[in-house]
Amino acid sequence: IDVQVASSGGNATSGKQYGIMFEDINHSGDGGIYAELIRNRAFQGNSIRPSTIQPWTAIGSAQLSLKNLSQPLSPALPTSLNVAASSGTVGIVNPGFWGIEVKVQKYTGSFWVKGSYDGSFTISLQSTITNETLGSLEVRSNSTDSEWREHTFTLTPEKAAASDIIANNTFAITYDASATSGSLDFNLISLFPPTYNNRPNGMRSDLMENLKGLNPSFLRFPGGNNLEGNDPPYYLKWNETIGPLKDRPGFPGTWGYQNTNGLGLIEYLHWCDDLNMEPVLAVWAGFYLEGPVIPENALQPYIDDALNELEFLMGDTSTTYGALRASLGYPEPWTIKYVEIGNEDNLGGGGTSYQSYRFQKFYDAIRAKYPDMVVFASTVDYQFAETSDAGEDYHEYTRPDVFAGRFGFFDTFATGYKTIIGEYAVVQPNIPQGGGVDWSGPRWRFPMWIGTVAEAVFLVGAERNADKIFGAAYAPLFQNLNSYQWAPDLISYSADTAANVLSTSYHMIQLFSEYRITETLPVENAEFDPAFYVVGRNNETGSYIVKAAVYNSTELVPMSVTFEGVTEGAQGTLTVLTAEDALSYSNVGKEAVTTTTTSVIAGSGGVFEFELPDLSISVLEVKA
Ligand code: AHR
Repeated sequence: IDVQVASSGGNATSGKQYGIMFEDINHSGDGGIYAELIRNRAFQGNSIRPSTIQPWTAIGSAQLSLKNLSQPLSPALPTSLNVAASSGTVGIVNPGFWGIEVKVQKYTGSFWVKGSYDGSFTISLQSTITNETLGSLEVRSNSTDSEWREHTFTLTPEKAAASDIIANNTFAITYDASATSGSLDFNLISLFPPTYNNRPNGMRSDLMENLKGLNPSFLRFPGGNNLEGNDPPYYLKWNETIGPLKDRPGFPGTWGYQNTNGLGLIEYLHWCDDLNMEPVLAVWAGFYLEGPVIPENALQPYIDDALNELEFLMGDTSTTYGALRASLGYPEPWTIKYVEIGNEDNLGGGGTSYQSYRFQKFYDAIRAKYPDMVVFASTVDYQFAETSDAGEDYHEYTRPDVFAGRFGFFDTFATGYKTIIGEYAVVQPNIPQGGGVDWSGPRWRFPMWIGTVAEAVFLVGAERNADKIFGAAYAPLFQNLNSYQWAPDLISYSADTAANVLSTSYHMIQLFSEYRITETLPVENAEFDPAFYVVGRNNETGSYIVKAAVYNSTELVPMSVTFEGVTEGAQGTLTVLTAEDALSYSNVGKEAVTTTTTSVIAGSGGVFEFELPDLSISVLEVKA
């Protein structure tokens, strides 16, 4: 394939082409990137998903029951765990999110107790496989019958737990029941390992490092379906995710488990700050996933709520919600430039109302207050981008051939970085009859190489349309291998931070994201297929960049590339990703992608000549 690149005449990119999308699915928040180690720490529940004792169990003769005391820890956390016993060493034990990684490092913990106790609590991390105590500590109690008292501690275990026993480590609190008046009530029992950037209530460092490896430009959050809630009155209410943990009631997420909302609005913004990502904030838009839609005459409070959320993040301290933010310890406002109205609000019963009034009303109100705000619709179905200043969000889950056939898909989209690809993934194999996803059929457990290459073709097609596409994010981002609702996912993990799985698609995005094109460059008489590519320049590094994916070729694809003004002897670096075969995938302890980096030198006429194998993904960088 002959690629003759002109030195000008392309389009500036948004600079945000590769981002990430997050919602709490697959225990990606609780049990995932949110570093809390204790599962069901505060017995949160609601009418959809009632409070439960699980996975807590009793030690010794203790009888465990849930109680809604007349004096709860807080209105947000009305249910607590009553531990009844009159003699002996008793207590409670928690298995974490399918294990607890124990290292010789500082763990920070706290728990609240109500009930009279004249003694000490023993806090410990245990291995149920080796029956060892890996670390323990005495916490002197000051607990009384009349009020809830917080106990705080830091624990540095003496021993680390080997990888193969992490899944069976537990956290326990024990005490001498004879020094109580018969029972104690516990709530908000929390334990954190060191977090990324040492933020209190922060994030798992290993997963943050994995994300940093993607060099992501934006974070689209907090959903996904999880934003929407299934049924009234539950949706992800921003104002219930802020402030002290004891004031956060949690939420019956849409993915089958209770969300603590410990990972809340401020934590998301810290996440953006820590990885230098632009927030793309999704606000609830009056549509519950299982159907009910807020009618037009009742929508205003929800629009006001979205405005309040924006004021909370952006307002100065003279505003009501800016003052609320400051009162929580954050006087400096954040800047939000991108807002999305709902999530896939074209689906289910949401479509008609979204098109006829819901999107427009949110859009008008937000733009009236923030005229420069980019407001994305949560679908591309209704031509909002073509007929207004609005943007749109394109989602696609499909099969390899479909994405490989979408190289030119964005050519006719509206210009102005108006389309965000908020979710995409290849989820099922090709089928003889062709066509898209079958939602009733099984999906891949992990991304597979043929799917990753097809995604690369699709992304290259998006990047060629740099004046139209704001950026793209694979979804879902995370998967806890012990409990998940959706596969395939970009990064998989367990409690063992040394066993993360970086999928084949992770490596593809990492490569494409590392080499950023700030301006595309036109190619004369361009031919594509079986090599699909985009060419551009990075004006900061002065490099020329060719990103390519080869899909469905029976032989090596010879490439000859020339850049206007680049002459014989110029040096380039070619990075090629390959895998053993089309169905290769990464799994725990198994890396499927091979990266080969070679030097290429421009020959006579400044031509870079090289060959690309079938099912390969590559980047050629030439420093001009
Ligand atoms: O990524 C999984 C789900 O797919 C998201 O929650 C939803 O937006 C989409 O349908």
